[in-house]
Amino acid sequence: MTGGFFDEAFDAEQLPDPLPNNPFGLLTEWFNEARERVSLLNWNTMGLATVDADGRPSSRMVLCKDIRPDEGVLVFYTNYRSRKARDLEMNPRCALLMHWDELGRQVRVEGLAEKSPEEESDRYFATRPWESKIGAWASEQSAPIESRDAMIEKIAETVTQLGLDLSMIMDGHPEDLEIPRPPFWGGYRVRAEAVELWCNGAGRVHERARWERTLPEAGQHAAGGWQSTRLQP
Ligand SMILES: Cc1cc2nc3c(=O)[nH]c(=O)nc-3n(C[C@H](O)[C@H](O)[C@H](O)COP(=O)(O)O)c2cc1C
Repeated sequence: MTGGFFDEAFDAEQLPDPLPNNPFGLLTEWFNEARERVSLLNWNTMGLATVDADGRPSSRMVLCKDIRPDEGVLVFYTNYRSRKARDLEMNPRCALLMHWDELGRQVRVEGLAEKSPEEESDRYFATRPWESKIGAWASEQSAPIESRDAMIEKIAETVTQLGLDLSMIMDGHPEDLEIPRPPFWGGYRVRAEAVELWCNGAGRVHERARWERTLPEAGQHAAGGWQSTRLQP
């Protein structure tokens, strides 16, 4: 038989056989390839799903700013008083989702979110453009605001409250402004306990593999080893 998935010449990506013991090598490769090959501005976007205290789910996009294969961790940054942060406070279980249509790849991660160490958040915050730094101070993310004008007013007030020298902005040197990280803004590390890698297959016979591990209890360090399984499409 020839054609579609019967055709050996069909150039569909396949997951390695046997599967690697740890999914993070392949996940990191996919992430780096997305950076190089995907034409989207926000090639590192991922869906973040959380649940509230009543078990109601909600999701939104965030940017994946780091993947740490050694720890099995993905990192994003946000406001620690936002709706997502309130959800994570009550229930640190969350799910992440990435999709690169051009590469025919999807990544699903389930795990536990914890706040990043302060120094790590400081280092990342320092790399942000000055507008984003001021915005992080000004925005009570997820809280209501009556109008855009009111938000712009709030930003102007924030500039005054932070004691920023506006002439630096006017003179075209806003990068010289020293703006510290707000204590209510920083990173979350999602420690993966499950990872699924999916690649597009001919005739919708996609390739899927799921890895699971047991995360350490509080106070323990090492996570258990990964168990892998191939899944039907
Ligand atoms: C492409 C894209 C990337 C985004 N990245 C982030 C991000 O890294 N951090 C963040 O707090 N919000 C980010 N947002 C905004 C969130 O989707 C969301 O509106 C915001 O975090 C408030 O969510 P919450 O009210 O559920 O907490 C992004 C939105 C889009 C569309």
